Amino acid sequence: MDPLFQITQENLETGLRGVPVGYCTTSTVHPEKGLFYIDYPIDQLANWKPEEVMFLLYKGYKGKEGEVLDFSNDLKKRAQCSQDVMRHIEMLPRQGHPMALFSCAILILGMFEGKGDYRTDCLNLIAKIPQVAAVMINHHAGWGKTPVSRPELGYMENFFHLLNIPGKKDNQLAEVFRLFNILHYDHGGGNLSTFVGKAVASGLEDMYGSIAASMDALAGPRHGKANQECLLFVTELLAAVGENASEERVEKYLRERLAKKELIYGFGHAVLRVEDPRATVQYALAEKLYKEHPLVKISILLRKVGSKVLKENPAITDPYPNVDAISGTLLSAAGFPYSEYYTVLFGLARTVGIAMQIVYERCEARGGKGTPIIRPKYLFKKR
Ligand code: MLT
Repeated sequence: MDPLFQITQENLETGLRGVPVGYCTTSTVHPEKGLFYIDYPIDQLANWKPEEVMFLLYKGYKGKEGEVLDFSNDLKKRAQCSQDVMRHIEMLPRQGHPMALFSCAILILGMFEGKGDYRTDCLNLIAKIPQVAAVMINHHAGWGKTPVSRPELGYMENFFHLLNIPGKKDNQLAEVFRLFNILHYDHGGGNLSTFVGKAVASGLEDMYGSIAASMDALAGPRHGKANQECLLFVTELLAAVGENASEERVEKYLRERLAKKELIYGFGHAVLRVEDPRATVQYALAEKLYKEHPLVKISILLRKVGSKVLKENPAITDPYPNVDAISGTLLSAAGFPYSEYYTVLFGLARTVGIAMQIVYERCEARGGKGTPIIRPKYLFKKR
């Protein structure tokens, strides 16, 4: 912690930007170096299995083969949700945004299967969340009954198996899901959904209620739903300029938007001051696998031109692409163009990091006493 940090009036009404409030034992975000899980830069983990990355986050070190195998077998044993859970998820109204259903589905899981112990519930929830998400998506999308779960396939392989995606082929989509999942597990302690989950848990709400609350925080367009919005933006850009557009044409489109005070999605971050390394990894995969896909072509052009245009405004502290700039394009190119589920994919992954951070705050922080209930001070102001 910065021992010189002093709260001044300038820090008020800034969303606690830069104000240290605690410790995060899983990951950290450096403005220039980007995201680290423990002490591994995120790009070094891009080819790891989900179970290996989860072990790293959970235990704080890279697991030996046998340790990861034991961890992964333990998750497999915990993975099956009860019939009651699935039946009640399938009774949720289909009108809402999938994130609303996802949050409800997590509460339902807690009602039937919660143990009231943060550590046990953390592992159970991480193990079961792929099935919860798949049952909810299949139900919401009208894709029919979810097949029998096969955790033995592997964590994200099973998720891919459970989703009844129309015309699903045994293609690279499972690999894109794996990468997306790993990249979104954690992003330091202070991102909104993580902070909200820990805040709710500080009142001693159980793991399921805390994670449901964190998913509600993730559902907003300034946070997790930005990936859905960003794909819509890229699709509009493509429709307006065409896939073989020149840099000048894209630049003109962006300047017109800015003149109308419309947002350019997929750029900027509260902490990062460079291109988000999670985006860099996904750009590389998109260029490798789908470089002729129209959305990929336009996203790559946007990566360059967007930064150029935004850099001209000195008030923009981070004019570089963030994780959302390319994740939806990559999912679409791989055969998952259903953007309303992108934030659920984000939440499916982020549950891992938030649940682990809640375990730390509730069971380990302050010598095992846990952090106290969140209760910051607000100054009275007459309007
Ligand atoms: C995230 O991954 O949570 C987002 O980048 C937002 C953030 O870190 O504040």
